[in-house]
This record gives sequence, structure tokens and C-alpha cells, in this order.
Amino acid sequence: MRHLMSPLDFTVQELERLFDLAGDMEQHMDRYAHICEGKKLATCFYEPSTRTRLSFEAAMLNLGGQVLGFSDADSSSASKGESVSDTIRVISCYADICAMRHPKEGAPMVAASRSKIPVINAGDGGHQHPTQTLTDLLTIRSLKGRLSDLTIGLCGDLKFGRTVHSLIHALSRYDNIRFLFISPEELRIPSYMTEMLREKGIDYEEVIRLEDCIGSLDLLYMTRVQRERFFNEEDYVRLKDFYILDKEKLSLASPDMLILHPLPRVNEISVEVDEDPRAVYFRQAQYGVYVRMALICTLLGLNPEQETIVSYQGGNAC
Ligand code: NCD
Repeated sequence: MRHLMSPLDFTVQELERLFDLAGDMEQHMDRYAHICEGKKLATCFYEPSTRTRLSFEAAMLNLGGQVLGFSDADSSSASKGESVSDTIRVISCYADICAMRHPKEGAPMVAASRSKIPVINAGDGGHQHPTQTLTDLLTIRSLKGRLSDLTIGLCGDLKFGRTVHSLIHALSRYDNIRFLFISPEELRIPSYMTEMLREKGIDYEEVIRLEDCIGSLDLLYMTRVQRERFFNEEDYVRLKDFYILDKEKLSLASPDMLILHPLPRVNEISVEVDEDPRAVYFRQAQYGVYVRMALICTLLGLNPEQETIVSYQGGNAC
């Protein structure tokens, strides 16, 4: 049995297979419409979500499976003081696979260590968000045609943004990647991330002004300032509109630069940018469904066409 806690849990070759499967699912949705019949996905979300939870649920429904779960901690027994370990042991009796989001870093990992079914980390605090990263990689691979030889600007809240941390880890395994970290001083990328890049010999630069570097980017990954992880509201208010990508700034970018955003957007991308062909964040959200379909099948060992990454011998195993 295998879980997904970090994007590095899959090798680059396994990711290639996963993305090929996601691509096939996009093209031939009907072929996969019954593959998860009789299987259940539990979505255990202790933190708000729209895209991640609903795209997991849409993915399972597209595969012919069923879904159950909760969408906030207050409506689960966590509000009565139940531990994540106990919750997952019980959910192992009801479902075949679980996607879990939690405000505490490492909580899905604790759950995985006690679980009898595959657990997918759907975001843990400011730490990791591997399925958003799979979505991002599939989007880049599909629309750019490659995951190597790229200059990537990550802009906004690089301190608390878990999607940023996961994406950097994942992209650092590809050749000739250069990162530009665009953030205000207070929201700089954590030093453990830059140390990791230095150790691996990966080129990066930290800049404050988006206008100074937008012209050199192949990809611009915008992020929202993560209000819920701030210790005081004043700091949030001061920093929330530090970056606003508008038409004027975009005029400095290359005609084939892609703009990604994990969403939700607040003010960091002006709505006038949505019509620009370089703005692909809504398509990115669609890729999130295909990649989660491929992930569910892979972790359940239900990939009919390709060599399976794991072989999970189904059944609720409480
Ligand atoms: C992201 C998250 O939850 O970390 N959203 C998502 O899953 N698409 C980004 C965010 O909330 O800013």
C-alpha cells in the first residue's frame, strides 16, 4: 500500500506514467467511467477548500466510484477531541482511499502511519500540497510541452504558500530549471528551501519587484497572501496587495509566458488579465481533475493499460 505525502514520493518516471494516464483520461473519459465502481473515496477536510475537495470528488465520480466525507473540522469528531489517528482507523472501515487536508503540518502523515487505506495529503498547513503540484506539473507539461529548461517566477507569499514549496521540490528534479523568487522581504522563501537548492546546485535569485524580472520568465506562478497563517491582521493588510498583476505589467512579459495560479485568487491578478491567452489558471483547475483521476486509480492499483505503480488489494480493511 502506498500513500502520497509529498510530490517526491513518486519518481520522475512514475510521474511520467501518471501524466500519460491523466492525458489518456482527458481524451477518453468514457473508457474510465466504471473503473472505480464499488470503490469509495473519503474526503476529510479539516480546513476550507473548494477546488481540491471538489476536484477529488469529481475525479472519483468520473471514475464511477462514490464519495463521502466532511468539509470542515467542526462537523467532524475532531470538534469532540478525536485524534487524526483514531479518525483514519475508523474511515479505513468505510472507504477505500482517503484525501485529507489539515491545518497542522504532518497531520496526513500521522494518519497514513495508522491507516489501512491509501492516504493522500490534500494540503497540510504551510508545508506541502502534492496534488496541487501534480496539477501544476501536468498543466506545464501539457501547455509548455516540457518540464525542463524553464525559468520560473514564483510570486507572492513564498513563506506560507504550501503549493510553492511542493512545486519547487518537484521541479528541482528536472534539468536546467531556474527559479526567481519574487516576494516582499517578510514573505521570502524559507531558508530550508534555498539551502536545498544550493545543495543541489540549482540556480535561483530572490527579487522584490515583479517588473524587474517578468520579461525573463517562461512561467509566472502567482499566489495569494495566506491570511489564515498570519499571526496578526495588520501585517496581512499591509502585504495583501503587494503584487497585482495587471495588463500593464503583463505587457513586459514574453508572448509565450504562461500565468499559473493554484487559486483562489484574491487581488493578486486583476480580472482584466483573465482574457489574455497566457492566463491558464482556470485550465489548470481542469487539469486537476484528470490528474486526481489518474492518482486515485494508481493508488488503488486500478490502471488497466499500464504497469501499475502499486498493487493495492482493495477492500475496506478496518
Ligand atoms: C491552495 C491551497 O489550499 O494551498 N489552494 C488550492 O488547493 N488550490 C492555494 C491557496 O489557498 O492559496
